[in-house]
Amino acid sequence: MIDDIQAKFRELYQQEPLLVRSPGRVNLIGEHTDYNDGFVLPAAINKEIFFAIAPNNTNQVRMYAFDLQESATFDVNHIQRSKTSWHNYLLGVIAQFQKGKYKVPGFDVVFGGNVPIGAGLSSSAAVECGLAFGLNHLFDFGLEKLSLVKMAQLAEHEYAGVMSGIMDQFASMFGKKNHAIKLDCRSLDYEYMDIDMQDYRIVLCDTRIKHSLAATEYNTRRKECEAGVALLRKHYPEITSLRDVTLPMLEQHQAEFDPVVYRRCTYVVQENNRVLVACQHLEEGDMQAFGQQMYVSHEGLQHDYEVSCPELDFLVDQTRPLKTVAGARMMGGGFGGCTINLVETAAVDAFTKQMADAYQKQFGVTLQLYIASIVDGSSLVDC
Ligand code: GLA
Repeated sequence: MIDDIQAKFRELYQQEPLLVRSPGRVNLIGEHTDYNDGFVLPAAINKEIFFAIAPNNTNQVRMYAFDLQESATFDVNHIQRSKTSWHNYLLGVIAQFQKGKYKVPGFDVVFGGNVPIGAGLSSSAAVECGLAFGLNHLFDFGLEKLSLVKMAQLAEHEYAGVMSGIMDQFASMFGKKNHAIKLDCRSLDYEYMDIDMQDYRIVLCDTRIKHSLAATEYNTRRKECEAGVALLRKHYPEITSLRDVTLPMLEQHQAEFDPVVYRRCTYVVQENNRVLVACQHLEEGDMQAFGQQMYVSHEGLQHDYEVSCPELDFLVDQTRPLKTVAGARMMGGGFGGCTINLVETAAVDAFTKQMADAYQKQFGVTLQLYIASIVDGSSLVDC
C-alpha cells in the first residue's frame, strides 16, 4: 500500500516524499465516556492511512485521495471549510496549525489506506493525526504528540462538524504494539495495558451499515449529557461533568430528570465505572471477566444510550452462546460500523465462518470481518 502511495506521489509531483503512517483504532471498553471526562480503553490497529508528503515551494496545497482517485488544490493562505467531506479532514488540520501561528507553506500530499470508512474504526482521526504528524515533522514545528492530538480533535470539531471526544486521535497517535491505552480523558494521564494477544484475537464484525446518523445523534448525546450535568449542578455545584457524578446522586434526583436524559447519564456513569473494573480484570489476566463487562457495556449502549442498531445487536447476540468468545459489543459512535469480539485464537476461523453465515441468512448481506492486531501509533515510515 505504502509503495503505491509513494509511486503515485512521484508520478503526480515528481519529487521524493516523506512517508507517514497513522492507524485507526478499536476501543475495548469505555464508549461515549471520553467527552464526559471519563475513562476509555482504545488501541491502535493494523488498519492504517499512509501519507506521502513534501513541500512544493508554492502557496498551494495539492492533495490527492488515493482511494477515491480524487484531487483538490487550495490556496494555503485561504484555508476554509469545503463542501467535500474528505477535504475537511486535511484542511481542518492545516487551519489548526495556522491558528497556533505556525506558518504552513505549500505542500503536496497523497494519502490512502485500508481503514474502512464509516466502520467506526476512526478513519477520520487517522487522516487528521497522520497529516498533523507529517506537517509537524516536515516543517520542524517541534510540537509534542499531545498538542498534535488536540489539534486533530479540533479539526474534527471545526471542519468535520463532529464534536468528538479525544479518544480516537489519542489512540491513533499514542498507540503501542500489543497494548491498550487506559486513558483518563480529564487529566489525559494514560497507562499502557498489556493485552493477551496469544490466547485471544480481536475480531471485528463490520455490519457494513454506514453510521450516517452518527454525526447528528452524536452531538445530541453530548447535549443530553450536558443537560444532566446542568441539572445536577443545582444540587452539587462542584461537579463539572458526568465524571464527577455517582449513581446515588442520580437516583436521588431522578424525579427532576427528563427520563431520556436520566438514562443517558446513568449509562455514562455506569460505563465509566465499568472501564475501571474491566482494567482490573485485565491486570489479573481474566479475559472472561473482562469480556463480561463488554457484554454489559453493549446492553447499556443498546437500551440506555440508544446508539446501537438491529444489525449490531444481532451480531452481539450471536456470540452469547459461544464459549470461545470472551466478550462482544458494538464499538465507537454507533448506529452501524463494527462489533468488537474477543475470540479464542484457536476458534477464530470457526467464529468468522459462523458469524458470516448467520449475518448473510438474517440480513442477506456479506459480513466483513477483520482480525485486528494492535500496533504503534502514528510514525514515519522507512522504505
Ligand atoms: C466516536 C468519537 C469518540 C468517542 C466515540 C464513542 O468515535 O470520535 O470521541 O466519543 O465515538 O465512544
